Amino acid sequence: VPIEQVLVADDEPIMREFLSELLRRKNYDVTAASDGATALDLIGQGSFDLVMTDLKMPKATGLDILKQVKETSPQTIVIVMTAYGTVESAVEAMKGGAYDYLTKPCSPDQIDVVINKAVERQKLLEENQFLRSELARECQFEDMIGESPSMRKIYSAISKVAASHATVLVTGESGTGKELVARAIHYSSARKDRPFIRLNCAALAETLLESELFGHEKGAFTGATSRRQGRFELAHTGTLLLDEISETSLSLQAKLLRVLQEGEFERLGGSKTIRIDVRLICTTNRDLRREIAGGHFREDLFYRLNVVPIHLPPLRERREDIELLTQYFLKKYALRYNRNVMSVTPQSIEALESYDWPGNVRELENIIERAVVMDCGEQLDPEHLLFHTDLAGGGLDRANSLATNSLRDMEQTLILRVLDESGGNKTRAAKELGISVRTLHNKINEYRRQGILEGKFCTVR
Ligand SMILES: Nc1ncnc2c1ncn2[C@@H]1O[C@H](COP(=O)(O)OP(=O)(O)OP(=O)(O)O)[C@@H](O)[C@H]1O
Ligand SMILES: [Mg+2]
Repeated sequence: VPIEQVLVADDEPIMREFLSELLRRKNYDVTAASDGATALDLIGQGSFDLVMTDLKMPKATGLDILKQVKETSPQTIVIVMTAYGTVESAVEAMKGGAYDYLTKPCSPDQIDVVINKAVERQKLLEENQFLRSELARECQFEDMIGESPSMRKIYSAISKVAASHATVLVTGESGTGKELVARAIHYSSARKDRPFIRLNCAALAETLLESELFGHEKGAFTGATSRRQGRFELAHTGTLLLDEISETSLSLQAKLLRVLQEGEFERLGGSKTIRIDVRLICTTNRDLRREIAGGHFREDLFYRLNVVPIHLPPLRERREDIELLTQYFLKKYALRYNRNVMSVTPQSIEALESYDWPGNVRELENIIERAVVMDCGEQLDPEHLLFHTDLAGGGLDRANSLATNSLRDMEQTLILRVLDESGGNKTRAAKELGISVRTLHNKINEYRRQGILEGKFCTVR
């Protein structure tokens, strides 16, 4: 579909006019909106081939617009525009399905590049379809990468257990691929066309967890206005994955034990016994034997769950897989975001291989995805790798602090240079820098406090 109808949404009149004019000259049919609500209205009425939207706008944000477009006309291409220094929000938009982003201020050339890329999109998408199926064929189990001896052992364990109905306990640190293993087991088993149901035990309070698992009858508790099937019932003849099994209470563990032993249970507030046939896969990143010793986990349940144990080693213990995983994620996200990333430099591989990966494969995947989204160019250099400092969203914090740090560094370098060139003349330097003497004075004091000015500019006038 060629691009004809374009919507430009930006609350800044200059940018809006500039972009609209530029696009009109390229013979597009341009509609402009000066706030988010108007843009949403227009999207509701018309059918746009391309939407170019600012992220920060009154009434509705660019992300709202993106969401609406994705829901109502998924084939429409969305390009988001963001102010310099807020690139992380553009990354979020890309993850939410934006096709690309522009950092403001942008030149007509930059806009051209992005639009031309969008125009090429259809063609690329077709090629990607082909590549995608190529990629899929490379892996033995869907999406599972790694040739290290420990991963090979895991593949063979998966094949063996898939052929049985046995309960599986998958252990390993966060982000090592426990869910991936559970899926691989289900989808290579005879149950593959039956439901695969998942529940995270750590995400719900005890009573909620119970009713999620076993379901409830009407009136079982306040708020139980109708009968509801639990996950065990939904997973009947299929597989149920219970994440973070260590986070269940002892009384719930007793109920789980009964399901495993007898294959039956009652809904909350019900008396009818329900029989089910479910393969149970549990995961944990805790040491269950230690939980047993501490009185937090039933030993008899542990033995029922641990029929087939599969342990995923942390990524730092199978560094030989890092390069392969990196290549895989690079391909995956280059396809998803239509980027032309061809290769990873040896320096990047070295940096990746020497990092400790507290967040394991998930962290590696995030780092590569981010680098690709932020358009690292054809080669992935170490400067594109943003290692997370911790697991709890520390990556973004770090990114933000990096951005502010580097801006501050740039500012500092500039100020010191201009001061130097002016021979320490504050009035001249301030004029040159386009800031007030007072601001400059404050900056100088700040640098003094940090010891940056030691010995320099003692004679600042
Ligand atoms: N061997 C692998 N090959 C390809 N991708 C992998 C591999 N292992 C993990 N991943 C990817 O890493 C991410 C995290 O994996 P997964 O969700 O299975 O981890 P987890 O062990 O269940 O983590 P958590 O304990 O935090 O739930 C997923 O996006 C998954 O696709
Ligand atoms: Mg998981």
